[in-house]
Amino acid sequence: MKTILHIDASARLTTNSVEEYNSISKSIAASFINKWKENNPTDKIIHRDVGVNPPNFITQDWIAAVFTPDEVKTKEQRALLSLSDTLINELEQADIIVMSSPMYNYGLPAALKAWFDQVIRINKTFSFDLTRGDHPLEPIMSGKTMVLATSCGEFGFGPGGINEKKNHLGTHIETMSHYLGIDTFYEINAEYQEFNDDRHKESVQNAHTKAKELASTLSNSYISTLQ
Ligand SMILES: Cc1cc2nc3c(=O)[nH]c(=O)nc-3n(C[C@H](O)[C@H](O)[C@H](O)COP(=O)(O)O)c2cc1C
Repeated sequence: MKTILHIDASARLTTNSVEEYNSISKSIAASFINKWKENNPTDKIIHRDVGVNPPNFITQDWIAAVFTPDEVKTKEQRALLSLSDTLINELEQADIIVMSSPMYNYGLPAALKAWFDQVIRINKTFSFDLTRGDHPLEPIMSGKTMVLATSCGEFGFGPGGINEKKNHLGTHIETMSHYLGIDTFYEINAEYQEFNDDRHKESVQNAHTKAKELASTLSNSYISTLQ
């Protein structure tokens, strides 16, 4: 049995009475999850919508608590870290992380960055050792896969595209995902939302197709390892 951690991040829902208002990134991630469930109905799925319920921003006291050895942490410090502990526990259980994110101001939403800040934590998700020379940080976990579904209003954010240099969404998430123990990273993008034209329709349709195909491919390769 595999465990999937499903993190959504758009401020928009997928249940609006006007379909056009629905989150595209969330619905692409849902295509992946639904296809996965068809193939693996008993797998555990942990779902968090940080767009609707954003994690707290970290504070100076939070940082102090993180750097205080466990045996001398106060009750207040433990309480301050309890959300981080819960989110890290969910990550530890996960084999696959299905993350969806809109592009806001050329990067990820603050709510999703808040999730990463709560989760990427010294001696929990990464270790720090200066004897490693110029690369003192190493992830503690490994072997996980991330599937990132994104949506943006403009287009051409991929290599060679007209907005390539403005893409701080997938590139940023991929960099951070190393410290979650991600070894394999897939990204599926829908573009052109602001143009609302045929290019947009085609881009969204392709993204759903890719999400379903990837769910089948990954679940088939997982099933074949069981045989
Ligand atoms: C606050 C905000 C900022 C946005 N910034 C950008 C941007 O920098 N570049 C872009 O291409 N689209 C931008 N958009 C458009 C969204 O990326 C687009 O609507 C996308 O479909 C949102 O994802 P969702 O459908 O999952 O909610 C922005 C939208 C909002 C609401």
